[in-house]
Amino acid sequence: MSPLLEVSGLRKSYPVKRDFLGRVRERSVVTNDVSFTLERGETLGIVGESGAGKSTIGRQVLRLIEPDSGTIRFDGHDVRKFKGKDLLSFRRRAQMIFQDPFSSLDPHMTIRNAVGEPLSIHFGIAGAERDRRVVEILQRVGMREDQLDKYPREFSGGQLQRIAIARALTLDPDFIVCDEPVAALDVSIQAQVLNLLLDLQAERGLAYIFISHDLSLVRYLAHHVIVMYRGEVVEAGTAEELFENPQHSYTKMLVSAVPDPRNRRRRVSVPTGGS
Ligand SMILES: Nc1ncnc2c1ncn2[C@@H]1O[C@H](COP(=O)(O)OP(=O)(O)O)[C@@H](O)[C@H]1O
Ligand SMILES: [Mg+2]
Repeated sequence: MSPLLEVSGLRKSYPVKRDFLGRVRERSVVTNDVSFTLERGETLGIVGESGAGKSTIGRQVLRLIEPDSGTIRFDGHDVRKFKGKDLLSFRRRAQMIFQDPFSSLDPHMTIRNAVGEPLSIHFGIAGAERDRRVVEILQRVGMREDQLDKYPREFSGGQLQRIAIARALTLDPDFIVCDEPVAALDVSIQAQVLNLLLDLQAERGLAYIFISHDLSLVRYLAHHVIVMYRGEVVEAGTAEELFENPQHSYTKMLVSAVPDPRNRRRRVSVPTGGS
């Protein structure tokens, strides 16, 4: 069986200088020759400092932006060639959650509608059946039924990220690009959201691309890791290899900045109570 996702030679550049006729004179390369594989049910960590090109990789993989060149294969099929029904099916099977859950939710839409909307759009499911599914998924991420008719502004950051995860899950995707999903949350709440992601992965066989500038988080979740530096993959390997024996000087620096070397992919104990 082919891997869930196979990315090869991904390149994306943006024009930075134009001449007086508006012709591009210089381009800035944001991702250069980026390649990796994501297996079903696993997590690929993408780590690197701000501006390294991490989000740009995620957006290309999901076909939110178009690469200059490179190939993206999903389940053996060329993502860049998807049209019509295939593209719609890909949009269902590949989801994304962002650093700022508030801006990813419509402020004028109740949680019930925000989480139910994808079900209507993709499957035409409405009414009691839609409600039943919405309640089930929201309860799974730790929300209560009596919170369903509230608006995003009535929730904390941790709750909003749970809601965004619920919305991503409603269509039963194969993988989710998690772009710095806990970077904006308090540290105590970060662990709760990360544990939720780990539990959902175990239950549903989800694959994740987990993007973070924080290597200690990547270590906690990822099976394989690529290290990005200025648009290029400078090191790749299993999380184990990378942490035990980093090769590139940038990776060495990242590893030496991580305080606790022991808690890889293990649940951490968190204070009880809601977020
Ligand atoms: N639409 C765009 N136009 C021009 N430059 C962009 C655009 N999007 C991203 N960039 C640049 O690409 C680089 C990488 O951005 P990004 O992928 O967001 O990095 P990261 O997620 O690692 O912080 C940054 O220098 C950013 O300014
Ligand atoms: Mg980013």
